[in-house]
Amino acid sequence: MQTDSSFTFVLFGGTGDLSMRKILPALYEAHRAGMLEASGKIIAVARHEEDRGGYLQWVNEHVKTHVSRNGVDENAWSSFVDRIEYVKLDLGKAEDFVKLRDAMQDLPGTRVFYLATGPSLFVPICRALASVGLNENARIVLEKPLGYDLRSSNAINDAVGEIFAEGQIYRIDHYLGKEPVQNLLALRFGNALFEPLWRREWVESIQITIAEELGVEARGDFYDNTGALRDMVQNHLLQLLSIVAMEPPHSMDSDSVRDEKLRVLRALKPIDPRDISKVAVRGQYHAGVIRGTSVPAYATEPGVKTDSATETFVALKVEIENWRWAGVPFFLRTGKRLADRVAEIVVNFRAVPHSALGSSALRPGANRLVIRLQPNETIRLYCLAKKPGEGMNLSSVHLDLAFDQFFKEGQMEAYQRLLLDVIHGRLALFVRRDEQEAAWKWVEPILNEWAASGKPKPYAAGTWGPAAASAMLAQHDTCWLEEEN
Ligand code: BG6
Repeated sequence: MQTDSSFTFVLFGGTGDLSMRKILPALYEAHRAGMLEASGKIIAVARHEEDRGGYLQWVNEHVKTHVSRNGVDENAWSSFVDRIEYVKLDLGKAEDFVKLRDAMQDLPGTRVFYLATGPSLFVPICRALASVGLNENARIVLEKPLGYDLRSSNAINDAVGEIFAEGQIYRIDHYLGKEPVQNLLALRFGNALFEPLWRREWVESIQITIAEELGVEARGDFYDNTGALRDMVQNHLLQLLSIVAMEPPHSMDSDSVRDEKLRVLRALKPIDPRDISKVAVRGQYHAGVIRGTSVPAYATEPGVKTDSATETFVALKVEIENWRWAGVPFFLRTGKRLADRVAEIVVNFRAVPHSALGSSALRPGANRLVIRLQPNETIRLYCLAKKPGEGMNLSSVHLDLAFDQFFKEGQMEAYQRLLLDVIHGRLALFVRRDEQEAAWKWVEPILNEWAASGKPKPYAAGTWGPAAASAMLAQHDTCWLEEEN
């Protein structure tokens, strides 16, 4: 692998939604912040009959509006677009890959191939790159979904693995690039304070929620063949779970961190198909109202089958079979068209074993850590304190770390961090093949059982999902965080 910090970033799917909304804006932000080597080039690749001028016009029209945090600095924007070239490429034409190779011939440094395409194109693109020798000294970035189940993901990984070594493959899970997820690692492994408490003796339960207000947008067709379990649980939620539950790694190098996450994924208690109705709830949204606006039912969204049995909501009870976590339930939840957009991890500590201060000190959740990933990235520690005045009356208070107030600048979007990591060859925040396999293996019994029988439970858009998700927690004498308020 070359160490030269110059690079050529080749973006397959260069006119697609992901390139427009996430990848090109993230590269612009990195450029504006002076984090990209001056000689680094971006080559956008797509099927469209276009020249460089036409592509840059498209970039001006479509990408600029997605550049977030700091708006557009016109000088930085103009030097950013100077980096961009366009190559029209038809996958079926070998000579087009020769053209791409020629365009890269004299460009120094690392080669990054970012496949912002559907997974069915991953293998043909990799083979075509290899046929013109472009797999040498290169890194390949694969977007999710990587496959549809264990078998199809193995098939892709096997085929890509014949062309690229594992150390050249960057499987993206953008949740791993989010600042608060990084901060969770800092919180757990940079402070001695939490480690003694981070275990079954002191933790009663953990909740991880990724709730969205958005529906399936223009992706009905894709989503209807995917569902929330594949779209969010197999990757984002299980990755968050593995970071919350992992043992302290020996160092932050890529394999130390990924080895520890893998141990967690392999220790997930296998789901017995007979127990699925007790530990897994699936739902599908019906018409409802979100923030005063009526929204249609999932089954009437464009691209969705009217009798669709695809889940737009999942809640699970997960257990980890090791000494640290045995017996502690982890409740995972995700859904579209829910009451709020929020992603957070809630660690509920046990109540004191005996209270000399009255029964309020015995209530569950008196001590709690809430790590909010979005919106308003914060870490909040809840404790009980005495209410002012006469008598010993306890009330919940909290200590807050709001990152944007403490660190006024330097925040990075997930994609910006991850793209810089690819360019600089840092693999720690990318999913290794064995992690991905372990995650697929664990979700597969649920996928199979749900495919074979029954339908998701309905829930009205703008609510927190089917009542069964609350009932599942009630069996453990607990409730979702928002139900306490
Ligand atoms: C993607 C899913 O991976 O994550 C989408 O495919 C989902 O369905 C998105 O909306 C959520 O990401 P974020 O960063 O907006 O929470």
